Amino acid sequence: MLPFLLYAAIICSFNALLKPLIMRNFISTQTWSKSELQDIVNFAVSLKENPHQPLLQNKSVAMLFFNPSLRTKTSFEIGISELSGTAVILQPGKDAWPIEFKDNLVMDGTAEEHVKEVAQVLSSYCDCIAIRAFPEFQDWSIDRTDHVINSFAKYSTVPVVNMETIEHPCQELAHILTLQEHYGNLQGKDYLLTWTYHPKPLNTAVANSSLLIASKFGMNVKLLCPSEDYLLDDRYMDAARENCATEGTTFSITHDIDSAYSGAEIVYAKSWGSLAHYGNLEAELNLRKDFKHFIVDEQKMALTNNAVFSHCLPLRRNIKATDGVMDAEYCLAVKEAGNRKHVQKSMLTKIL
Ligand code: CP
Repeated sequence: MLPFLLYAAIICSFNALLKPLIMRNFISTQTWSKSELQDIVNFAVSLKENPHQPLLQNKSVAMLFFNPSLRTKTSFEIGISELSGTAVILQPGKDAWPIEFKDNLVMDGTAEEHVKEVAQVLSSYCDCIAIRAFPEFQDWSIDRTDHVINSFAKYSTVPVVNMETIEHPCQELAHILTLQEHYGNLQGKDYLLTWTYHPKPLNTAVANSSLLIASKFGMNVKLLCPSEDYLLDDRYMDAARENCATEGTTFSITHDIDSAYSGAEIVYAKSWGSLAHYGNLEAELNLRKDFKHFIVDEQKMALTNNAVFSHCLPLRRNIKATDGVMDAEYCLAVKEAGNRKHVQKSMLTKIL
């Protein structure tokens, strides 16, 4: 009996020590290699053909939504269930206690508990913690630290998954699967990320992610935005430049609509807020009102090389893209949303 208990104690200690070393978060695709990401996409293809497999049996995922969602919430919850796992959805501040993230604070505000306890408690119940936490649109120097998800990653002892913060890696996987289903090999394809109008400034996450994944998968990436005020954070533009250099492709920035669309094979659209006017809503709204013509329409798509169009959704019709574009054969937005479920199931299987 004694040798067995000794053996069990050694194994438990070894696991406790090893777990943080082998644990893999899915917070940014930049910490995953292209071949690892391709493996996730490939397995998603097989899960799409054979969706019900007990791969997450006895596994549970706590999903914390600090912001609304239709696709992410539904596709994760159903996907986990299809793999025989359990998903728990929590909305801190609504059906769960509001959480504090700052350290060394007298917590006399609205938060009832600190992320240190929340992350540890959820880690004791669940095998994975997934987070949706958009930026607060006050100060980009704070929001760019992505402190909510990084705090969970710091204090949790189980893998942490990004369901959209200042990047949206799950959307990236679905985007690549959808484009590969259409084109096969994406190497050398001409990829356009275009800013579109929206009545209010939105998160840059999908735009950041678009640059990361298109460049990582070997495409020539062009960023079209109305002016320098709408350039993305250097972290993402530099990463795209580096990825393109590795792949032997090009990264360019333009403010000219016609030349940007000309010859494009993939058009991906997203609206985002100006980082130059971050936290100054009045100035931002005043700036963007002159850029309604950045809408994706049939005339612009006609300039492309028979391009496919996609968007992460949700999308305001006839504001971001016309009915004609959204209803065209070349619009892959709904297929991309559908593929979210398959790639997320594949990714969870990989990290759990
Ligand atoms: N694209 C996406 O993440 O959609 P939801 O915001 O509806 O989850």
